[in-house]
Amino acid sequence: MKQAKINVLLIGSGGREHSLALSISKSPNLQKLICIPGNPGISETCESIQVSISDFDSINEIVVSNSIDLIIVGPEQPLAEGIQDYFTEKGILVFGPSQKAAQIESSKAFAKDLMKKYGIPTAAYEICNSFSESLVTLKKFNEQVVVKVSGLAGGKGAIVCQSHTEARQALKDIFTEKSYGEAGSSVVLEEFMEGEEVSLFAFCDGKDYVLLSSAQDHKRIYEGDKGANTGGMGAYSPAPIATKELIEEAKNKIISPTLEALNKEGIPYIGVLYAGLMVTNEGAKVVEFNCRLGDPETQVVLPLVKSDTLELMFQCAKGDVSNYKLELSDKFASTVVLASKGYPFSYSKGKEIKLHPNFENSDSQILFHAGTKLENGKLLTNGGRVLACTGIGNSVKESLDLAYDLVEKVEFAGKTFRKDIGWRALAKS
Ligand code: AMP
Ligand code: GLY
Repeated sequence: MKQAKINVLLIGSGGREHSLALSISKSPNLQKLICIPGNPGISETCESIQVSISDFDSINEIVVSNSIDLIIVGPEQPLAEGIQDYFTEKGILVFGPSQKAAQIESSKAFAKDLMKKYGIPTAAYEICNSFSESLVTLKKFNEQVVVKVSGLAGGKGAIVCQSHTEARQALKDIFTEKSYGEAGSSVVLEEFMEGEEVSLFAFCDGKDYVLLSSAQDHKRIYEGDKGANTGGMGAYSPAPIATKELIEEAKNKIISPTLEALNKEGIPYIGVLYAGLMVTNEGAKVVEFNCRLGDPETQVVLPLVKSDTLELMFQCAKGDVSNYKLELSDKFASTVVLASKGYPFSYSKGKEIKLHPNFENSDSQILFHAGTKLENGKLLTNGGRVLACTGIGNSVKESLDLAYDLVEKVEFAGKTFRKDIGWRALAKS
């Protein structure tokens, strides 16, 4: 990047944004990094400012007073609320899609209709707008069926049902009890897909893209992939299921056609296109698209990038990533999420977190903060997912051992984690 160093504003407060902050801060092209609102881990790397991520006017004051050149948006919410459109109009570069393009995540109905129109492989589906309509439509599906609220639901809006009785209950909760609020005013009923999941992250400039290494998330709360869906309890990268052939298939049949489809619809896509795929007997199919990086996948994907990630995002935001040379480490990364007891349902906050006195982040172990806060000099739990312990090693096994070694260096009351992160990869190695 042959130009003056740049001032960057990062939006978000999770483990994903902590990983982004660490990665961006390594860039020789960075002048200054500020994060809104950040967390105690991010504050060790850069200045954090407490402003609501939905308050664009207040964010703009910070953008102006700090001569920000580029805004990097971590979570989906401000993207769905139009942060890219707001700042693009003011002439500020944003790495993240426009409100219309963010519908790829914020409206499952939009995403499914786009895939159907352009022949992008995904599960068969029907969209329903009322309880009575959904009960009739349900009859078209097999007993095993997936009920999804169309709007944003923090990763908890898909209910995998084993029977129509379960599905009817889910539909009643959504339409009659309004458990998901407005997000549930429209529902997608979907055919159940059998297979293994993998996540891919395409950094897009509107036309071209750069694909980072694959990752596998662990969505369920309990070992053996049992229990409720969460935001993600652990991840590893690269995922052995994502062979060269699978990546080629995903690029040719899913990622490129989706970007072309969006262009044809007059909605060029800038930012991360996260493709959550199911590898089925009939090939890779889209489970979901997200308009941002994954959490906790970012805590394993970015530590494996050797080239300048700030340059990557800056070039995407400027609309020309075609000359970017991605350089990836040949190592493996794994992360184990430490959650509060009770997550993803109700949990208490404010438990003191104690770290092993000799622990420091290194090339092989990184502790990412998510739901933490500093109060009177004490580090406290402040969310469902509290920390992510990442290990980086020469094999999946070594990276997992390093991650679990780090897990033992952190203590807080109610510390909850899965002990089987990476089980599918270990079974393959
Ligand atoms: P989503 O919110 O769409 O990402 O779904 C959350 C999780 O539910 C996915 O990661 C899958 O584990 C599961 N899931 C969603 N849709 C399907 C489907 N059609 N078939 C099987 N599992 C699904
Ligand atoms: N870990 C899943 C997500 O970020 O959506």
